[in-house]
Amino acid sequence: MTSRYGEVLQRWREDPARFWLEAAGAIDWTKPPQIAFDPSAGIYGRWFPDGELNTCHNAVDRHVAAGHGERVAIIYDSPVTGTIRRFTYGELLREVQALALTLTGLGVGKGDRVIVYMPMIPEAVFAMLACARIGAIHSVVFGGFASKELAARIDDAAPKLILSASCGIEPARKVEYKPLLDKAIELARHKPDAVLLKQRPELRASLIEGRDHDWDTTRDAAMARLDAGAPSPCVPVRATDPLYVIYTSGSTGKPKGVVRDNGGNAVALSWSLKNIFATGAGDTFFCASDVGWVVGHCYIVYAPLICGATSILFEGKPIGTPDAGTYWRVVAEHGAKVLFTAPTAIRGIRKEDPDGTLAKRHDLSAFEALFLAGERADPETIIWAEKALDRPVIDHWWQTESGWPMVANPLGLGLLPVKRGSPTVPMPGFDLAILDPAGQPVEAGRMGAIAIRLPLPPGALPTLWNADERFRESYLTEFPGYYSTSDAGFLDEDGYLYVMGRTDDVINVAGHRLSTGEMEEAVGSHPAVAECAVIGMADDLKGEIPCGFVVLKKGSQIDRAAIEAELIAIVREAIGPVAAFRKVLVVDRLPKTRSGKILRRTIKAIVDDKSFETPATIEDPAAIDEIKAIVANGGR
Ligand code: COA
Ligand code: AMP
Repeated sequence: MTSRYGEVLQRWREDPARFWLEAAGAIDWTKPPQIAFDPSAGIYGRWFPDGELNTCHNAVDRHVAAGHGERVAIIYDSPVTGTIRRFTYGELLREVQALALTLTGLGVGKGDRVIVYMPMIPEAVFAMLACARIGAIHSVVFGGFASKELAARIDDAAPKLILSASCGIEPARKVEYKPLLDKAIELARHKPDAVLLKQRPELRASLIEGRDHDWDTTRDAAMARLDAGAPSPCVPVRATDPLYVIYTSGSTGKPKGVVRDNGGNAVALSWSLKNIFATGAGDTFFCASDVGWVVGHCYIVYAPLICGATSILFEGKPIGTPDAGTYWRVVAEHGAKVLFTAPTAIRGIRKEDPDGTLAKRHDLSAFEALFLAGERADPETIIWAEKALDRPVIDHWWQTESGWPMVANPLGLGLLPVKRGSPTVPMPGFDLAILDPAGQPVEAGRMGAIAIRLPLPPGALPTLWNADERFRESYLTEFPGYYSTSDAGFLDEDGYLYVMGRTDDVINVAGHRLSTGEMEEAVGSHPAVAECAVIGMADDLKGEIPCGFVVLKKGSQIDRAAIEAELIAIVREAIGPVAAFRKVLVVDRLPKTRSGKILRRTIKAIVDDKSFETPATIEDPAAIDEIKAIVANGGR
């Protein structure tokens, strides 16, 4: 099939307003937008300013109303608990209606924030949809973050209510969420009115009287009210009203609250699922991420459900639950057409099953393509997956901020030739440019900052939660007229993008976005630490892992091994296990410029065994020799 990409891109370029109004036709509006884009609204303009809709209605109610109540909406597949449960759209509607009644009963209304701190269980999906139903704004926090991170989000979002569960289940341990949550509420200045807690049979938590409510008890009561005729309506909201806030790592310790609006999200996700992922009503989509990440928000919950597809909610890991064939078992058993995961997951599977024999044991006849994103997809991993699966392996590039792929190979429009190492070409809506430091576009083949000419398309962030100025400073001031992605790369002669890495101190650990600046803040809080640098060190499995270098205060008597262990514990306590901060080395000095700037890039180059030039402005070249010697010694 020849790709329709060129023709579709051209249609968007000629008339973006018409293009997106046409795409908006796939959504049910309580007030259909007449205006596609208002350049005078918001910070760089707003999409569908006169539109009104409800996202939950689009994701659930409308499919039931159209007679598809018996179609499966969610397949919860949990190898860690040995459970597989299916929810039809009709059943999902009842669950969401009931939870929406509970939320309103607890005083939550339109515009209020609700934090969701939950594992990958169906109730997490109900939670997001119930918030959307009543016009409340959800903020899902990934379970691998610790109390302090959760507390920072509680203070920023100021939620009325927190929805949580007694535990998450990791292969080697149960994660007790409740003590983490209680501690976060204790640390936070803002206190939620209430907590609604799902007790899991694997581990029960104690409830605090007056504040905490039991999920199942309130559910049963709400179901009884529904049966007695209590209404649980979808509340219409403006297209520009926030659907959710998702926090992501920035350069400083304070996470950024990325705002997603209702209208843009619905339009962009329905367009992208069809045209990029070639998935629609009745198809089964398997996105093996977590609802705590943007990928999970978009492609586990909203996109498949808005399109009337079946979404797989997988509670497990690519390896060890029980083996490296789990993903292929899930794809085969549920007839998934597409699997979307991070390259790390495939590297993990490859390590355990180098010949790809486990994939061959399953009937993958319904399976059409593997999509990879979240970090660089190295060609070796792509080649291995192509061979093991005998299917296209599609790299695509996006960010929490963009809300959907900025650059991809659009399966739904017909694949373009694959160039391994490139996520392919910009999607309609993303007018991509490679800029030099002066903000001038560079020629093909030359490296520069990857930027998007404003306006961003529907579905991308309009601002940061309660932080318009930070939004401008973080993204719009470096290159006036552009959104700066903080990634560097180049376009080749055919317009294919190559992403080379971040230009800030964000690193990607197993597809998880983390801030080394935040880790440095945690390490620096230890009383014996004079200064420190955390860099992302290349790792065969996780892409990158953090590695800390610390200089101790003069006269510190602590044993090196002891302090290293203490620092690892501090980061785990401050950020969470997901930081995977397991390597820290004490050095006598850090390489710095004469003006005192720590040469993190140089340290990274030494650690990764890459060539580098010693900066002419270096303060003390011996600092470089010390790090070289430590690295040559295997870290000691
Ligand atoms: N809740 C609580 N803790 C969590 C968690 C969660 N939802 N997710 C991860 N963690 C913990 C893990 O238990 C581990 O803790 P530990 O230090 O006590 O062992 C730590 O965070 C790091 O976890 P993880 O990144 O999963 O690494 P791992 O070494 O346990 O597993 C892989 C390696 C490859 C299996 C794993 O990184 C993986 O599944 N990667 C794919 C990630 C992915 O799909 N990302 C998509 C994002 S778009
Ligand atoms: P997140 O906001 O967590 O989705 O992380 C976004 C960052 O991950 C981007 O800015 C990139 O640095 C990186 N990233 C995501 N997808 C890709 C990809 N396909 N190739 C290279 N880097 C990627």
